[in-house]
Amino acid sequence: ILFGPPGAGKGTQAKMLIDKFDIVQISTGDMLRGAVSARTALGLRAKKVMESGGLISDEIIIGLVKSRIQEADCQAGCLFDGFPRTIPQALAMIDEKIDIDHVIEISASDEDIIDRLSGRRFHPASGRTYHINHNAPKRPGFDDLTGDPLIQRDDDLEDTVKTRLKIYHQQTKPLVEFYRNLKSTHYHHLNGLGSVEAITEKVLSILR
Ligand code: AP5
Repeated sequence: ILFGPPGAGKGTQAKMLIDKFDIVQISTGDMLRGAVSARTALGLRAKKVMESGGLISDEIIIGLVKSRIQEADCQAGCLFDGFPRTIPQALAMIDEKIDIDHVIEISASDEDIIDRLSGRRFHPASGRTYHINHNAPKRPGFDDLTGDPLIQRDDDLEDTVKTRLKIYHQQTKPLVEFYRNLKSTHYHHLNGLGSVEAITEKVLSILR
């Protein structure tokens, strides 16, 4: 599990880890954004909540993840990014007997997060993220691999980011103690301040 506040760099590091370890990424945020773009019933319900910076109900998220992990590509293991985000979601993983090898918390201050998210640009088809200054695409505004145009996420507006941070502190941060106390997993914390490459090196050294 990659764990941390919005904008800590979970998605950025996830892209490196799935290539390196040849496992799939399960990002509930990407799944929900996919549903919003496809205008499914779930997407229509999720859109407003996501735009407000709130959390989708545990029931919906747990159902989504349960069905995703049944797919064949998850049999070799997977990387959770943005899930679990509440204690009931973490308990549901235990009920489903999902073994968690490592939980890596990436932390960042609220000020850094506001800076990072205001400069974030996103490639919807792949979930690849960039930052206009700290992690810039080769050609400004376009994805490095496909050349598709990048977009800015609706929930990256400053007021929405502040709401997301508030919810993170109230509902998600308690998972730090939860996983620290869970004997069946390895919990690690790293400071997310530093270049993308420096954080990658820290993540890999933890996993080594
Ligand atoms: P989700 O998509 O999961 O968003 P999030 O957790 O808020 O995480 P982000 O994607 O914003 O940040 P990140 O940590 O991945 O950072 P990134 O690598 O992009 O969720 C969106 C919404 O969906 C939620 O608000 C909620 O409504 C709903 N949802 C999703 N899961 C849910 C769940 N389980 N339960 C209920 N609701 C759920 O990096 C950020 C920026 O910083 C980028 O621009 C990047 O290039 C840059 N950057 C990265 N690393 C560095 C670095 N080291 N130095 C400088 N810049 C960096």
